[in-house]
Amino acid sequence: MSPILCVAGARPNFMKIAPVLGALAEAGLTCRLVHTGQHYDPAMNDCFFRDLGIPAPDHYLEVGSASHAVQTAEVMKRFEPVLESEAPAAVLVVGDVNSTLACALVAAKRGVPVIHVEAGLRSFDRAMPEEVNRVLTDQLSDLLFLTEAEALDNLRREGIPEERAHFVGNVMIDSLHRNLARAVPAVQTLGAAPGSYALLTLHRPSNVDDAATLAGLLEAVADIGRGLRVVFSVHPRTRGRIEAFGLQGLLAGLTVLPPLGYLEMLGLMRDASLVMTDSGGIQEETTALGVPCLTLRENTERPITLTQGTNQLVGTDTARLRRAVAEILAGRGPAGRIPHYWDGCAAQRIAAVIRAWLAETERLKAA
Ligand code: UD1
Repeated sequence: MSPILCVAGARPNFMKIAPVLGALAEAGLTCRLVHTGQHYDPAMNDCFFRDLGIPAPDHYLEVGSASHAVQTAEVMKRFEPVLESEAPAAVLVVGDVNSTLACALVAAKRGVPVIHVEAGLRSFDRAMPEEVNRVLTDQLSDLLFLTEAEALDNLRREGIPEERAHFVGNVMIDSLHRNLARAVPAVQTLGAAPGSYALLTLHRPSNVDDAATLAGLLEAVADIGRGLRVVFSVHPRTRGRIEAFGLQGLLAGLTVLPPLGYLEMLGLMRDASLVMTDSGGIQEETTALGVPCLTLRENTERPITLTQGTNQLVGTDTARLRRAVAEILAGRGPAGRIPHYWDGCAAQRIAAVIRAWLAETERLKAA
């Protein structure tokens, strides 16, 4: 049987690909794993493979960091021979990073069906590199798996045939369910009691690549840090910008940590009184955990975290951020509920659809 060639490249891909690989194997499907090497630091990589039990990749493309064009092109160049040698039944990509689009494009051009896990999400902000990746990957995909039902409206609007789309739930939340019992408690990572700190992550180019925006955010956080311990896990991109802009002084009152492993981060999210972030995945994970989340962006491609979950958009308006923190600490944060199908079984649903689809494809070929 030809394999399904599964692709992961950057940190947020790993918690999505792990349950998919497991469920495909359980369904009796053969998988091969390609790691593009978009992220390569041990802290962004190795510990996720270990924590999530992901098998060693069958192919490691070692593309590393570069401009969007160069990084995307390098993935494409290095992925094409792998595609040729594996002759897969389909290529499965997750999320919205440059590796996602690059591998989908190579597969589509060679007539190999593309499967996109986490399809249909839209921020409607084309200045976000991920939005371009989402729109184009969905256009190229033969099977699209949705985390929230409303995403179907976005696909319809873009002319994508509805029969390609399947609402299955959220594989990132599958990983959360599977690993929550093993999460490292905050008291172990920080010596901090549950509910005694706020957790911060920042890495979007729109927040960290502009000196004035980054300084404004860090000043507001430093101010919040005077009344509540703020724990800041710093992404390599953000660390680079803070140093380049000479903003290290604004970190003085914060607890600064390097990028954390999956189980440490899960524990820190679960035990936080609130989370401030610009990450897409963390908006979903906090909703699943019932922890208040303040998103430091003007938009989100994950609107269900606002309508049903614990998420609120505060943008980069620092007064709004301070007010929202005060409301949450006064016990007036959104309680939220768990969105439909965020139940830990999304990957099994995906595997069932793929198995039926492969059988049908074989039947049509034989006919
Ligand atoms: C990428 C994804 C983003 C995702 C994020 C999670 C795209 C367009 N962006 O952004 O959607 O939310 O990953 O982290 O695909 N670096 C290291 N070590 C690494 C990786 C990166 O030091 O292992 C540094 C390099 O200086 C690099 C910078 O971080 O230039 C940015 O890395 P890059 O992969 O371009 O994008 P991210 O900001 O990580």
